[in-house]
Amino acid sequence: MLRNDVIDRGTRGQTPALNTRADEAFLDYISDMRNTLMHGTHKRVEEQSAAALEKAGLTENLWPDRVYDMRTTMTDVPEVASWLRAKRSLQEAYWQTIVDSYSSRQDEFLHMLEVSDSEGPGSVHWDPDFKYPDYATVDIHIQPGGYVADPLCGLHYDYGTKVFFGGMNDGDALHAKMCGKTAIPKDGQVNRAMDIGCAIGQFSCALKRRFPDAEVWGMDIGAPMVRYAHSRAAKQGLDVNFAQMASEKLNSPDNHFDLVTAHLLFHELPEPIIKQTIAEVYRVLRPGGTFVLWDFPSDAAADGRFSGFMRYMDAADNGEPYSCEFVSCDVETLIPQAGFILRYDDLDDIARHGRIGDKPEQRT
Ligand SMILES: C[S@@+](CC[C@H](N)C(=O)[O-])C[C@H]1O[C@@H](n2cnc3c(N)ncnc32)[C@H](O)[C@@H]1O
Repeated sequence: MLRNDVIDRGTRGQTPALNTRADEAFLDYISDMRNTLMHGTHKRVEEQSAAALEKAGLTENLWPDRVYDMRTTMTDVPEVASWLRAKRSLQEAYWQTIVDSYSSRQDEFLHMLEVSDSEGPGSVHWDPDFKYPDYATVDIHIQPGGYVADPLCGLHYDYGTKVFFGGMNDGDALHAKMCGKTAIPKDGQVNRAMDIGCAIGQFSCALKRRFPDAEVWGMDIGAPMVRYAHSRAAKQGLDVNFAQMASEKLNSPDNHFDLVTAHLLFHELPEPIIKQTIAEVYRVLRPGGTFVLWDFPSDAAADGRFSGFMRYMDAADNGEPYSCEFVSCDVETLIPQAGFILRYDDLDDIARHGRIGDKPEQRT
């Protein structure tokens, strides 16, 4: 039921429009400002940072021991300090605007989730008594309530990532592109696919579109995420199943899936959980099945200069507490240690590297 002063303004792509045109215009402005920062002025900030580090003699093997020296040196350059401050302020502003704007339609959105819980196509499974591990309860990316504390956090995340991607993921275009180049088992068989850390199901839906005859599952630790993911997929007429599950403790049979994907999940996991997750993925994949992990380049920190610093800043100032652990945990070693045969994709992409783990036909 809408309040008298609240208008349903339709959708922007798959995403419900904000409550007022003014809110939307403000977020369009923020999105453009982020694009300017991330793609327009980034190079100059990088050059200035490199020059300041050079001048201070901070050039090699800085990660992680000398990160505070790097921070002091780089933030002494006014342009770099303002750039970092602006990035943080934009992040804070867009999340708060989204939460505030949708809040006046809260009852309507909660009702939408309740109804869609029991409607198809596809399904959703979640546990109202699920006990979240502490690591999963942080306000990740500075999103108020993170992925678990607000029943509408899936909705907030939908608009938030629209802003974050600066228009590049409209129509879930990035997910479709990444899914399109995701490796599959060498025998070409994809009858069952699972997307872990699926959030609002954008990659899971892309999997269903690519493999329409396959049974596709999206798993996420956050009940609000899988509920919203199901509602979003069902609106698109897609028969995808979503379930609340921790990637380190998958409630799935052994040797069951042909393909398991994790797109931008691992940098949000503490290192012990990364190891358990890789072992679980190995368990649930059938012999000859394939695991595809898309995430930040893990050598970003190791180069010790601007990119390492940025990862650190992401952790310290942008609500990404585990991303440093991810980039320094050497996931390329952990995957074969779990029994996989490792191959790679897209090592030139600065935002995401593809690590592909094939489960051998027979354990060696
Ligand atoms: C950055 S989002 C991933 C986005 C999504 N895969 C995509 O491509 O849009 C990370 C997601 O991982 C989920 N997550 C975090 N820890 C998890 C865990 N241990 N098991 C399953 N999901 C987890 C979060 O709830 C969140 O929805």
